[in-house]
Amino acid sequence: MRHTANIFTLIFIIFLYSTIYCSSVPNESLSAPLLLLISFDGFRWNYPDLYHLPNFNLLSKRGVRVKYIQNNFATVTFPLHYSIITGLYEESHGIVGNTIFDPKLNAVTTLDTMNDTRWWSQNSYSQPIWTSNELANDSYQRRSGVIAWPSIGTPINGHLPVRYQLFNLTRKFDSILQQIIDWFREPAESRINLGVVYYPEPDMTGHHHGPISDEMNKTLKECDDYVGQLLAMIDIDEYLKRNLNVIITSDHGMESIRKNRTIILADYIDTKLCSAYGSRSSVNIFVPLESNINRIYANLSTIPNFEVYKKSQIPDEYHYKSNIRIGDILFVAKAGYEIIAPGDNASIELLGDHGYDDRVESMHGIFYGFGPAFHENMQVEPFHTVDIYPLMSYILKLKERKTNGSIDNVKHILRHHINNDLFDEINLLLSKTTSYVTSWGFITDGCVLLVILISIVYIIVAFRHSRQLIYAEPQFPIRYRLLSNDEGSKNNFFPDASDNEELE
Ligand SMILES: *[C@@H]1O[C@H](CO)[C@@H](O)[C@H](O)[C@H]1NC(C)=O
Ligand SMILES: *[C@@H]1O[C@H](CO)[C@@H](O)[C@H](O)[C@H]1NC(C)=O
Ligand SMILES: *[C@@H]1O[C@H](CO)[C@@H](O)[C@H](O)[C@H]1NC(C)=O
Ligand SMILES: *[C@@H]1O[C@H](CO)[C@@H](O)[C@H](O)[C@H]1NC(C)=O
Ligand SMILES: *[C@@H]1O[C@H](CO)[C@@H](O)[C@H](O)[C@H]1NC(C)=O
Ligand SMILES: *[C@@H]1O[C@H](CO)[C@@H](O)[C@H](O)[C@H]1NC(C)=O
Ligand SMILES: *[C@@H]1O[C@H](CO)[C@@H](O)[C@H](O)[C@H]1NC(C)=O
Ligand SMILES: *[C@@H]1O[C@H](CO)[C@@H](O)[C@H](O)[C@H]1NC(C)=O
Ligand SMILES: *[C@@H]1O[C@H](CO)[C@@H](O)[C@H](O)[C@H]1NC(C)=O
Ligand SMILES: [Zn+2]
Repeated sequence: MRHTANIFTLIFIIFLYSTIYCSSVPNESLSAPLLLLISFDGFRWNYPDLYHLPNFNLLSKRGVRVKYIQNNFATVTFPLHYSIITGLYEESHGIVGNTIFDPKLNAVTTLDTMNDTRWWSQNSYSQPIWTSNELANDSYQRRSGVIAWPSIGTPINGHLPVRYQLFNLTRKFDSILQQIIDWFREPAESRINLGVVYYPEPDMTGHHHGPISDEMNKTLKECDDYVGQLLAMIDIDEYLKRNLNVIITSDHGMESIRKNRTIILADYIDTKLCSAYGSRSSVNIFVPLESNINRIYANLSTIPNFEVYKKSQIPDEYHYKSNIRIGDILFVAKAGYEIIAPGDNASIELLGDHGYDDRVESMHGIFYGFGPAFHENMQVEPFHTVDIYPLMSYILKLKERKTNGSIDNVKHILRHHINNDLFDEINLLLSKTTSYVTSWGFITDGCVLLVILISIVYIIVAFRHSRQLIYAEPQFPIRYRLLSNDEGSKNNFFPDASDNEELE
């Protein structure tokens, strides 16, 4: 038995060395996993079905399209972008609106003044994925680059990514894409392995012209062109084509606003007794004198098409309650209705808005993923905004952190899901080899043949001796599939001989 185990080890070592030696881009085979996260603000989940968007359609063939992203309350930009990069509900990360009042800080912030670390660092466990990547402390060289994403420029719990550029409203997205790709293409000593970029469209067009409009048609065509440009930039670069994983998502959707569906808050409550912060779709109302809460609540509860909750009554599904930044009363418009709070300029009319209950269909966002980590040509059922962080964390091979999402909800869209660093490493090398073969259509290199031969011998030996080896199951360097998606166990793998997708 010891003898066969030695043969096993020897073959294994030869396999590893030959894989590394034969790899056509030796340094890059050992670089950290690459991931690019893109958000198109306010990109409603069904725009690709309502409008003609050929490049978005290409994405679903090239990788995975999730039917929609189920987001969390409140469905507004800064809170949801923080949920995407932290995996936390708004009550947990503390960015509960685009306008926030914090009774402990005794301060109010709007988007213009949110560049202050105390808003983003309410607790120590809110950690953006770009920080998790850089603090991984493993053998990889990890660097993050971030452009225009909400919060960027403001240190969060003391950390800023090594590369970043601030939001610039007039900057076009092709310039942002070019910059982030350039950062990925720098020499190994300085390049990034995680890129995170944000674009404020089609949200702005949605607000000004509505989700169904000629202007939206035009803006979406631009977004679609940007996706086409991105694919071209990736495809002309062998390193990116082979290694870069891309996620394209959005924070929320967009609902049409009809006239005469707007109420002025001051017409219903005495605004001297309270203050209101939020957006036109929902406001947090703070009532300094507790005895006034019931009276204000009573007035608001008479208004049709608006929901009112005392803090303790806020639906648990919102995950929007346990934070001092959430008001004594939460007042929420039904989809398509609007609230004008004191200080808001009622003569600015919107034709589209968001921020409503996250279960409203028009509030859902998009999700596409492609690259070596993802399955191809796959359409799957929705998952949640807070599951995106665990997904990114898995792709980047980071240690699992406790968040409000779970890798178990998303692992079915990934090709390899094993939780063993060494064998993950081998899988990466194997997948590089197979994609090399695939990209050439046939075997052009004796090295590739050698690697494949040795892997076959390795697999045969591994199978034959698997019964004798303790903990044998996780050691097959080929594809694995989870026995069950429901059990929550991550060690329950079996080799899947019938699954040939990766070699196609
Ligand atoms: C969008 O515009 C194109 C022309 O640029 C037109 O052919 C198409 O029908 C429009 N789509 C929608 C949904 O309005
Ligand atoms: C936030 O931005 C404003 C203007 O955009 C600037 O004046 C201010 O110094 C910034 N604050 C911090 C803490 O960076
Ligand atoms: C990083 O890893 C090194 C070596 O494993 C260890 O000594 C060090 O304490 C780690 N640092 C952090 C911040 O985890
Ligand atoms: C914002 O972008 C525009 C267009 O690219 C550029 O001309 C301008 O200099 C940028 N502003 C800042 C502050 O970087
Ligand atoms: C590859 O690695 C060698 C030695 O570590 C280094 O000198 C070289 O610059 C690297 N090449 C690239 C393209 O990173
Ligand atoms: C709003 O409703 C009022 C009364 O129902 C009506 O007279 C008015 O024309 C409506 N305004 C618009 C812009 O629809
Ligand atoms: C409730 O509405 C009535 C009638 O509009 C108003 O007089 C009163 O001040 C309101 N109460 C509060 C607490 O806002
Ligand atoms: C309110 O908005 C209108 C239309 O944009 C503008 O003309 C007016 O100056 C604004 N009023 C205030 C007080 O900002
Ligand atoms: C969300 O995650 C935070 C941080 O781990 C935790 O404190 C909180 O209880 C979680 N919320 C839910 C609803 O599980
Ligand atoms: Zn948004």
